[in-house]
Amino acid sequence: MTQTVNLDWNNLGFNYMNLPYRYRAYFKDGEWQNAGLVEDATITINEGSPVLHYGQEAFEGLKAYRCKDGSVNLFRPDQNAKRLQKSCQRLLMPEVPTEMFIDALKQVVSANKEYIPPYGTGASLYLRPFIIGVGENIGVHPAEEYIFSIFAMPVGNYFKGGLTPTNFLASEYDRAAHKGTGQAKVGGNYAASLFPGQQAQQQGFSDCIYLDPIEHKKIEEVGSANFFAITKDGKFVTPDSPSILPSVTKYSLLYLAEHHFNMPVEETDIYIDELDHLAEAGACGTAAVISPIGGFQIGDKFHVFYSETEVGPVTKKLYDELVGIQFGDRKAPEGWIVKVDEAKL
Ligand code: PLP
Ligand code: COI
Repeated sequence: MTQTVNLDWNNLGFNYMNLPYRYRAYFKDGEWQNAGLVEDATITINEGSPVLHYGQEAFEGLKAYRCKDGSVNLFRPDQNAKRLQKSCQRLLMPEVPTEMFIDALKQVVSANKEYIPPYGTGASLYLRPFIIGVGENIGVHPAEEYIFSIFAMPVGNYFKGGLTPTNFLASEYDRAAHKGTGQAKVGGNYAASLFPGQQAQQQGFSDCIYLDPIEHKKIEEVGSANFFAITKDGKFVTPDSPSILPSVTKYSLLYLAEHHFNMPVEETDIYIDELDHLAEAGACGTAAVISPIGGFQIGDKFHVFYSETEVGPVTKKLYDELVGIQFGDRKAPEGWIVKVDEAKL
């Protein structure tokens, strides 16, 4: 099996690392061309590029997992390909075909195989695909040329504590409007979340939770993850809103709750003044995995879900199932796991 580099695998956090290889492809004259792996981590683009002025950019996030038998799993990469295609449609960018997307992911994982965290450390290789509009173009129009790239970095926990609950703050700000770009994974949504996110962190919270942009009465999502909860009568619930990102992790948990644990599930309104019927709550996403929400500060009210120090039993059960599937220890639903070519690992 491949030797790994010497890193402190158990304490990686979520930090950029300049690995040896990344994938690049260029869209010019109506087609993707010059695609392949490169060593240079820098990208040189024209100063008039729409990505620099008008945020014509979309990205994805997914992970590669080293299994006990040495093989490497990608988790539902077709879902990320589809979501990127939708983001591209919303921002008038050319779509990256699913096959090209998955093949590029495999190339990046294989080329950086020494950096895939060993099985048993809980860490994984985070993959960050992104597409940017480039070229001389200063009017507010879509670019004529694009760069698609994927880089990788080994990561551990996104929120400190991992499966230990942390606290979140209800934001006074909005990250996206109902008919805006909230459903697309585009840079502008994250630019809008920097200030509220920093305010939350400066007050000791992990991140903020956004409320519906119309009335600020319902939970939308966390700045970097979706929100889910378990009701006191055992239902898996998650907000139903047109301005949140359709999370691959959230829909996976919803499926597992329903089909593996026989729980009722519902995408529904979750009102901030009706939290007492919720027994457990968490943030879920690729980077966040499942991060239990201990306390939730809403104005001057502090609501504790299950506990500020202990993970709830249903959250733990869902976490074990999801992570077990991702690392190949538990049986995955059909089509969820795509293996990286073993001959190249
Ligand atoms: N919501 C936001 C705003 C995110 O940035 C993410 C991370 O990708 C998610 C939700 C979770 O999505 P996924 O589970 O597909 O990673
Ligand atoms: C992810 O979970 O992949 C994300 O994109 C969240 C965050 C790091 C922006």
